[in-house]
Amino acid sequence: MKIKKHKILLIVGGGISAYKSLDLIRILRKNNFIVKTILTKSGKEFVTPLSLTSLTQDKPYEDLFNINDESKIDHISLSRWSDLIIVVPTTANFMSKISFGKAEDLASTVILASNKDIILVPAMNIRMWMHKATQANYKKLLDYGYKFIGPTTGEMACGEYGEGKMSSPRQIYSIIKDYFKNKDLYKKKKLKALVTTGPTREYIDPIRYISNESSGKQGYEIALALSKAGVQTTLVAGPSNINPSFGLKIINVTTAEQMFKAVRKLLPVDIAICAAAVSDFKPKTKSNNKIKKNSNKLNLLNLEKNPDILEYLGKNNRYRPKFVVGFAAETEDLIKNAENKLKNKNCDLIIANDVSKKTFGFNKDFNKVVLIHTNGKKVTVPKNKKSYIASIITETILEKYLINDKSIN
Ligand code: PMT
Repeated sequence: MKIKKHKILLIVGGGISAYKSLDLIRILRKNNFIVKTILTKSGKEFVTPLSLTSLTQDKPYEDLFNINDESKIDHISLSRWSDLIIVVPTTANFMSKISFGKAEDLASTVILASNKDIILVPAMNIRMWMHKATQANYKKLLDYGYKFIGPTTGEMACGEYGEGKMSSPRQIYSIIKDYFKNKDLYKKKKLKALVTTGPTREYIDPIRYISNESSGKQGYEIALALSKAGVQTTLVAGPSNINPSFGLKIINVTTAEQMFKAVRKLLPVDIAICAAAVSDFKPKTKSNNKIKKNSNKLNLLNLEKNPDILEYLGKNNRYRPKFVVGFAAETEDLIKNAENKLKNKNCDLIIANDVSKKTFGFNKDFNKVVLIHTNGKKVTVPKNKKSYIASIITETILEKYLINDKSIN
């Protein structure tokens, strides 16, 4: 069987641990990875271009405006070439640089221009790591979707002891190996997911409608995380300002009926996540013309129930997705109400979403949720960026899916 060789772009940062990048390259090459390197100016103080060339059989890239490098492969192509970018070691200075989105040398420009996952492997003195500025950068970078390996706790090159030590090349390799193992598995299984997001609009007349404050951000972030993990994902989105990205397919709809129709058309899928704030009711009839102020039609608004998309998926005899996830947006009795929805709509997981506060939830960048499993297990995710919440939900779903799907090998 032909084994796909994964391509790693390894950026060698400027720290005493830079020498460990050589060992990591050796392990990666031994395990069939193709490695290209970028040697930063300060990295060059610790590792020579000759060592990197000998180990990768390829000359390291060093300068942004070097005519030889750029004519061979420019900074955009370099990022597109790779399957994964990893920075070993990641210094406090480099974290600060990329947290500001700077593009002042080849390494930071490639990172800013990248459409791939980026893993940072910090190594620095404990005081530097614990400094509020570094911790703020760390949080910011997590929000931006960067992944981190370490740092670990131990004795450092400076002789001090604590958190800040770089993970070992073996630890780094083991995480890279798992990263590709899962990604390959989802791709091989051609795992498909659908995610609903955003509000729906139920028109009363041509210009007035019943809707809600949902921005579609939370569902979008989940779809993006699934897509990045290698799952073929389609997002069915009610009216919102979200754009296609990272190969994510988006179907735009307006009403609950349209969302329901689009979802049915996408079946069968392996995973379904309903994050949309679907309007529970719609007017029985829609006036063809704008209803006049003095008309009594508005007083007598006749409503009827919309189809429940989540319930339809959870209870579908023929096409039930293997893993059905619902949200429960609640302003009171969060857990109890969410547990009822988990059961009544036959979900495998419900995300209890506290929407009682003004600083997170509907139409905000932050959210706060509790993941409730069918066996009663509850995992609270404190207030955080929706992208972070999405990564936790996605990891949980994929982990659960792998455990439940015995046919995966
Ligand atoms: O969009 P954002 O601004 O990022 O905000 C995110 C969010 C708060 C909207 C989201 O995280 C959230 O909580 N979504 C569910 C909103 C909701 O309508 O919850 P609900 O408790 O009314 O519905 C329960 C579940 O049934 C949800 O999964 C919902 O998608 C689904 N449902 C409800 C009614 C219906 N007719 N069809 C459905 O599929």
